[in-house]
Amino acid sequence: MDKYIATIDKRLEELLARCHEPKLREVMTYAVLGPGKRLRPQLLLASCEGVSGGYSDAALDFACAIEMIHAYSLVHDDLPAMDNDDFRRGRPTCHKAFTEGLAVLAGDGLLSLAIEVMVQYLPNRHAVNALTSIVKAAGVGGMIAGQMSDILNEGKPISPETLAGIHRRKTGALITACFEAGGIFASAEEPMFEKMVKLGNVLGLAFQIKDDILDVTSTEKDLGKPIGSDAKNQKNTYVSVHGIDTAEAEYKRLCQETQGILDSLPVKTGALHELVTATLSRTK
Ligand code: IPE
Ligand code: IPE
Ligand code: MG
Ligand code: MG
Ligand code: MG
Repeated sequence: MDKYIATIDKRLEELLARCHEPKLREVMTYAVLGPGKRLRPQLLLASCEGVSGGYSDAALDFACAIEMIHAYSLVHDDLPAMDNDDFRRGRPTCHKAFTEGLAVLAGDGLLSLAIEVMVQYLPNRHAVNALTSIVKAAGVGGMIAGQMSDILNEGKPISPETLAGIHRRKTGALITACFEAGGIFASAEEPMFEKMVKLGNVLGLAFQIKDDILDVTSTEKDLGKPIGSDAKNQKNTYVSVHGIDTAEAEYKRLCQETQGILDSLPVKTGALHELVTATLSRTK
């Protein structure tokens, strides 16, 4: 998978150079180019390549835009006003390394640069459709709504359905958008496109359940971020609501469902299988 990561990071660096305010660029670069997994842009590129055999410059830029949006969400998620965490990707969080004010602005900067990067491809039809998918997933019906529900429900008893709704929106939506954008740039047709969306939905939920599990079972050293953050904040998670055994069992079930959908996709390259399989067995 390293071939994608090197390409993504090189392009991210070029795109960040469009920010001419040196301090802002420095903080944004710290947030987005730190040692994260780059899962979402890789999913976009691998799904696009799987369907069409390749990916365009536009697809690469959209992949980078999604990683900028993801990185901004992490910067804001870590702020004292939200999860109040001091460690991320093996380093001090953005507000610890700089200040809260600069972290807020770097997050805002990453979101707006992401949109600027995508808008340059309009009115191309693929770009319009991918941009629509991505901003909807990141926005008030997706990630933001999920993050708000996550915070509003701290310390409150909630139903399993409400919990699944939080996870699908705060994390699942953007992961699904990677498959949608990948499918759009690959000109995927039904029923292929529909299967890709389903794959994103199942993988997205599984991904956040695993994040909840790792918050309890991993170590700060392995994870690169604090463990026990969820208990500290009285978060509703798959572990707090269902218990660790049921959370693990549900995760296993979703892994099998993911593999089933993946196996039914007639893709041209093995990259998507490799990436999804590696993601499901992740330890960080
Ligand atoms: C962490 O995402 C936040 C969630 C949505 C669970 P990742 O686990 O993909 O974080 P990085 O990008 O590798 O740091
Ligand atoms: C965050 O969920 C989801 C986002 C949209 C950033 P978490 O709060 O569980 O993510 P981590 O554990 O801090 O990475
Ligand atoms: Mg959070
Ligand atoms: Mg958090
Ligand atoms: Mg978490």
